[in-house]
Amino acid sequence: MTSKAKFSRREFMIAAGVAGGGAALGLSGLTPTAYAQVGVRQDINDPRLDPRVIQALRDGVNAMKRLPSTDPKNWVSQASIHQNFCPHGNWFFLPWHRAYLYYFEQICRQASGWPGFMLPYWDWTTSPKVPAPFWGDASNPLFDDTRQIGPDDAADPEFVGQDAIDGLLRTPDFLTFASGVATSQRQRSTTGELEGTPHNYIHGSFVLGDMATFMSPLDPIFWLHHCNVDRLWTQWDQLHPNNTTQDTRWHNFTLNRFYDPRQNTQVSRRVSTLLSTYSLGYRYPNQPGTAPSGPRRFRGTLQSVQTGLRSARAVNQQARTSAPVTVELALPSRLRGSVNSVASVASDTAPSQRIRLAVSVQMPENLQTGVRLFINTENPGPNTPITDPGYVGTFAFFGDHDGGTGRGGTMDMSTLPFIFDVTDSVQRLSRASRLTAGSSVRVSVVPIPSGRQRTREATVRTEQVRLEAIS
Ligand code: C2O
Repeated sequence: MTSKAKFSRREFMIAAGVAGGGAALGLSGLTPTAYAQVGVRQDINDPRLDPRVIQALRDGVNAMKRLPSTDPKNWVSQASIHQNFCPHGNWFFLPWHRAYLYYFEQICRQASGWPGFMLPYWDWTTSPKVPAPFWGDASNPLFDDTRQIGPDDAADPEFVGQDAIDGLLRTPDFLTFASGVATSQRQRSTTGELEGTPHNYIHGSFVLGDMATFMSPLDPIFWLHHCNVDRLWTQWDQLHPNNTTQDTRWHNFTLNRFYDPRQNTQVSRRVSTLLSTYSLGYRYPNQPGTAPSGPRRFRGTLQSVQTGLRSARAVNQQARTSAPVTVELALPSRLRGSVNSVASVASDTAPSQRIRLAVSVQMPENLQTGVRLFINTENPGPNTPITDPGYVGTFAFFGDHDGGTGRGGTMDMSTLPFIFDVTDSVQRLSRASRLTAGSSVRVSVVPIPSGRQRTREATVRTEQVRLEAIS
């Protein structure tokens, strides 16, 4: 390997000059024009993609794979950071992975010898197959032979299609979109819609192999998958400019632990320094060329759920594809009032309250399981269409305990609460006259085989179901 050329001091400086300055200073001290030179992270399937992007990615990954295992920039060392530190199922999920990608992009600039390298993203919604540059054989550094799919397999639109993505981007509550409150990096909270649906599905139901484990960054497609998750966060931000949580337990939290190749040292980052992509030297095509000026306001949408606005019920039952579980949830009068007021809002106005549904399950034996949720749907089963007015969403699983690989990581993955905004479903049900002003709603849990084993019956142990109103 030509390590001297690839890690030259001069290139360190160029890369640091373009992208490092804003990051070090944070957002406050800089005018929007200081970000004029941010690079654009492009769609790997865009026909106008600069061919140097794929070449640099290939060269960079190749160089990282050849570094001695003691080097923190080594490929396996980088994946181990994920194994040991990645937060999942809580509100640190998005900022942590943003920082992880940011430093990976820096390492790739050095390792490829191209200081202008910008990490591309894989938009699985418009291009549901793993992109062509990631296939081939062992001679291609972007290929991973543990994947259990081939170049012609396409991701399922139920999890990554435009309707699913539009639905989660509409969700105004940050914690429902981006996963729930935690006070330590790897504490389990609730898994939100972006993480639980497309993110988990691509890892644990679709690509599989390394991607189904906490060593998933061993598969080079990991980085482009997460780049797309990061891009969807910026889209949500544009749609809901003030809805990011204002909670200082989030903004002031210090995330561990990354490796900065410009300083040759391990670093940590406060969440508050990760909220502007411009300050990190990049943007996506959906974002304007210069950073929006003025300070950002963080209002958040979550008020703590008050007494009477929540109804929970223990279930403790196996749900099977052929025998889904349906639970009757009693609605205390205040919660019933919220449900009815949300239901009666005209379809062109946004209701001031939102209704959420949280379902806790155990990680299934077979990770290739999707779990469909319905409200007030008669005899739901695997053939009930997801266009049914009572359809809420489908979540998937990621984070195999170990899968025989010894790569389970150290997060507790046993009980997993998933959360969905069901306001739209409640309104659709009301328009379909399937939401009477009654004192209960029925919630159904329908597991479906989500991987390639389409004929197998899926099973998931359902522990608790909860409905709540937030405003
Ligand atoms: Cu921390 Cu999608 O992985």
